[in-house]
Amino acid sequence: MSLSFKNVRKTFSLKTGDIEVLRDINLEINDGDFISIVGPSGCGKSTLLKLISGLDTVTGGEVIINGKGVYETAATEVGVIFQESRLFPWKTVEKNIEFGLADKSLSKKQKKDLIAQHINLIGLNGFEKALPKQLSGGMKQRVSIARTLINKPGILLLDEPFGALDAFTKINLQNEVLKIWEKQKSTMIIVTHDIDEAIFLGTKVVVMSPKPGIIQKVFDIDLPRPRVRTSDDFAYYRKKIYKEFFGNIDANNIEYII
Ligand SMILES: Nc1ncnc2c1ncn2[C@@H]1O[C@H](COP(=O)(O)OP(=O)(O)OP(=O)(O)O)[C@@H](O)[C@H]1O
Ligand SMILES: [Mg+2]
Repeated sequence: MSLSFKNVRKTFSLKTGDIEVLRDINLEINDGDFISIVGPSGCGKSTLLKLISGLDTVTGGEVIINGKGVYETAATEVGVIFQESRLFPWKTVEKNIEFGLADKSLSKKQKKDLIAQHINLIGLNGFEKALPKQLSGGMKQRVSIARTLINKPGILLLDEPFGALDAFTKINLQNEVLKIWEKQKSTMIIVTHDIDEAIFLGTKVVVMSPKPGIIQKVFDIDLPRPRVRTSDDFAYYRKKIYKEFFGNIDANNIEYII
């Protein structure tokens, strides 16, 4: 699905006054794009995603999904995955996934098949009856991905989905999400603090800056897939994006870690 932000503004009104969080956001996202959004804490990345999922409303401008307003878009068209897996601790893997299924009119058999298909997709065969406490962080995040994908959303929003995971699990899940993206041809938007993750996944990397949140720069990532993190081409984009954040400083200077 395509998505466009037209002069989007967002201001929160608090007792202490208004805070302008997003200013003049203009962005065109094509069907099948994988957009990575990076930017300092508090620059409005999560707010931007909430405007797409309908969890929050714009103060000005508009967000258009496939030519229609957010409110004319079916809730199941936009799936959201958060940093924490948000599973029900008392429900098994398959029951957690079933809970996400919006189409309650399916027969028992159809539901069972669909759940099995999604457990297969995330590679958790054999864990159907496991409870969340029996799973690792990465496995729990896989379940939340399956629970969202089961409705076949045309747009998947991922808000720092791998932020709490170790480097190995993170890389595995990035590969899995890429496979799903290639297979389902959905539009994905990921918010991340990890510049390598942004380059590895994105067709475009959007760099935001704060106070108020604006789009500072959009990079087209013109690298063939599978992308190799240790390649010179990859390093070229890494350097460009670090420079965008910090200017022409030494990108290896540890004082400038994000
Ligand atoms: N419901 C709200 N009411 C008031 N202020 C809010 C609300 N939601 C967010 N904000 C403010 O908007 C700004 C942007 O918040 P947001 O969560 O979008 O940032 P972020 O870029 O996702 O940050 P992080 O990287 O830390 O997750 C912050 O200053 C935050 O305090
Ligand atoms: Mg956030």
